[in-house]
Amino acid sequence: MQKTVTVTNESTPAVDLAKCRTILSKYNNATPADLIPILQQVQDAYGYLPQNALEEITVRARIPLSKIYGVITFYSQFSLEPRGKHTIKVCTGTACHIKGAPDIKKKITEVLQISEGETTQDYKFTYEPVACLGTCFLAPVMMIDDRYYGKLTVEKTETIIKSY
Ligand code: FES
Repeated sequence: MQKTVTVTNESTPAVDLAKCRTILSKYNNATPADLIPILQQVQDAYGYLPQNALEEITVRARIPLSKIYGVITFYSQFSLEPRGKHTIKVCTGTACHIKGAPDIKKKITEVLQISEGETTQDYKFTYEPVACLGTCFLAPVMMIDDRYYGKLTVEKTETIIKSY
């Protein structure tokens, strides 16, 4: 007999499950190997993984909620909270730190009025510091979505963010 698990999270309101159900309809005989592709598609559809969508995956794909949470917490690509339309990643690696990353980070928190790891109230930006972005020759560096911005100054950082 299948165990029933109920999880409530009042910070993430229930979403319309139509998109989730469309995705799950492609996985009528889901196996554990299908979980990551399902989660990726659901996150692409909603911008994050809403609680009631996870419960839908549990029921329809017959994957235990505990396993789903295990995968979500293991892979940093998955988010249980609504995220901003754009993700700003600021490098905190050694090369960037020496070339002024602390000032860049300070400017970002000032412009966006949020702290590291947070999302703006209008859901436009999510801001997260990361380890080396692999482009140390451009230090200090940030990424907005898939685009790199290097040799940043405090002034350039503000101009770039405001251009979005
Ligand atoms: S230390 Fe910043 S990109 Fe490598």
